[in-house]
Amino acid sequence: MNDQSACPASPATRRTVLQCAALTGTAGLALTACSSGSSGGGSTASASTTDSTGSSASSGEVELGMTSEVPVGGAKIFREVQIIVTQPKAGTFKAFTAICTHAGCTVGGVANGAIFCPCHGSLYNVETGAVLGGPAPSALPSIGLDVQGGKLFAKPSS
Ligand code: FES
Repeated sequence: MNDQSACPASPATRRTVLQCAALTGTAGLALTACSSGSSGGGSTASASTTDSTGSSASSGEVELGMTSEVPVGGAKIFREVQIIVTQPKAGTFKAFTAICTHAGCTVGGVANGAIFCPCHGSLYNVETGAVLGGPAPSALPSIGLDVQGGKLFAKPSS
């Protein structure tokens, strides 16, 4: 007869429910559900959203990197998001789109105190993004920047 493989629908003890679940292959879910009920504790490991150092990630800001990656008087290009961050003075950070307004090349960084584009030589102000020279028709659009705990976060554009 098949007495062991059938799970009885009759009032079952906790033991028979667990045994039945194990036999039917759904032990994983059943065991985790049962173990938190009677063992006391142990169910606090639920997955929560990251909220350990503030809520900047949840407000749509994008973490770029560390402030230490941006040299004073220079810049760092975060290519994956096409943002250039400059540090004209120690502790002052500015962010702009890294896409040249002339023909769409990615700017090359900072040289001689200006953001330069390697394609046709446009130059931009490191503090304002304004055009200093070359064929660029307009300034690099600035991007809101938040500095928290030594990290740089780009604010979402509106
Ligand atoms: Fe930058 Fe032409 S694309 S100067």
